Amino acid sequence: MKIYSTKDYDAMSRKAADILASHVILKPDCVLGLATGSTPIGMYKQLIEWYNQGVLDFSLVHTVNLDEYRGLAPTHDQSYRYFMQHNLFDHVNVKPENTNVPNGLAADPEAECARYDQVIDSLGGTDVQVLGMGHNGHIGFNEPADHFPLGTHVVDLTDTTIDANARFFATRDDVPKQALTMGVKNIMQSRHILVVVSGADKAPIVKKAFFGPVTPQVPASILQLHPNVSIVADEAALSAL
Ligand code: GLP
Repeated sequence: MKIYSTKDYDAMSRKAADILASHVILKPDCVLGLATGSTPIGMYKQLIEWYNQGVLDFSLVHTVNLDEYRGLAPTHDQSYRYFMQHNLFDHVNVKPENTNVPNGLAADPEAECARYDQVIDSLGGTDVQVLGMGHNGHIGFNEPADHFPLGTHVVDLTDTTIDANARFFATRDDVPKQALTMGVKNIMQSRHILVVVSGADKAPIVKKAFFGPVTPQVPASILQLHPNVSIVADEAALSAL
């Protein structure tokens, strides 16, 4: 586990973009595991800037996103497909057919989860998986539980997560109660994990997840068992260490 401490959010975004860009440069046909949430937005902005400067080429890149809300259409402005289009895909030359986000509208969500696992397998797994972290240590939408869910699955969101995400919706009732998310096995099989964390409000969970016991009650703690994890965090997020 390697921790990169940066001064602030902008420096965190720049360092995380450096690491992701290095994957694209060294392996132009790499498979990027991508994440949503507010934390990686600055990183995506930096990647777009480098693409515009001709530094990065996404034409052979494939992407797989971690998760999607159940019941939101790709055109819904809070869906994760919309987020990815808006914050990255629409601004770089990744081929639309090479981008993957679970289908939140699938009539049979279990079948959609099985299909998604097959997509990841058929791509040979991810070269790097970007992860943000929820305040309760969730990764993707793997919420605290009594076991680590393995493959892509449907999950009931916890009240904490619904509360945290309510700011993006008109009312709390509008926040979907379920999501489709990659499981912990999908995440752990990535060849490199890139965790991005920012802000003092994340300091307690950073300490718990990376320096506390490995437990499904803190899903991110499993990352301590991965051989190749880079944590890029600003000083505020590391302030409890
Ligand atoms: C959501 C996403 C996670 C993300 C988390 C933290 O619940 N499913 O993938 O890591 O929010 O988001 P933020 O970066 O806004 O704190």
